[in-house]
Amino acid sequence: MTTDSLFRLSNLAEGATVTIDFEGQAMEVPEGISVAAALLACGARDFRSSVVGDQPRAPYCMMGVCFECLVEIDGVPARQSCLIPVRGGMCIKRQSGAPALDIEDEGEGHE
Ligand code: FES
Repeated sequence: MTTDSLFRLSNLAEGATVTIDFEGQAMEVPEGISVAAALLACGARDFRSSVVGDQPRAPYCMMGVCFECLVEIDGVPARQSCLIPVRGGMCIKRQSGAPALDIEDEGEGHE
């Protein structure tokens, strides 16, 4: 059984590219594709770790259903990389476990 990615960008015409950063590594990717497609095409296989068991996870559905593709983009955790178009200068990091909740204390009387 092959462990090489079956994901290819061969059907994309030659065109503009943008540079993104994934875990400190610069990657030049085609403009206009999703973040998940860009990372897969560059060989990324470990997008996040599971909340239970800390197992490596990677995109599965590529259409916003499975949530296996969560990454941190420009400091914002839990972004669905299959739904977000890649943009030059993006800083992308693996999602490690569950993101911290940013819940502000609403004070008494809040319903
Ligand atoms: S790959 Fe399934 S939600 Fe992104």
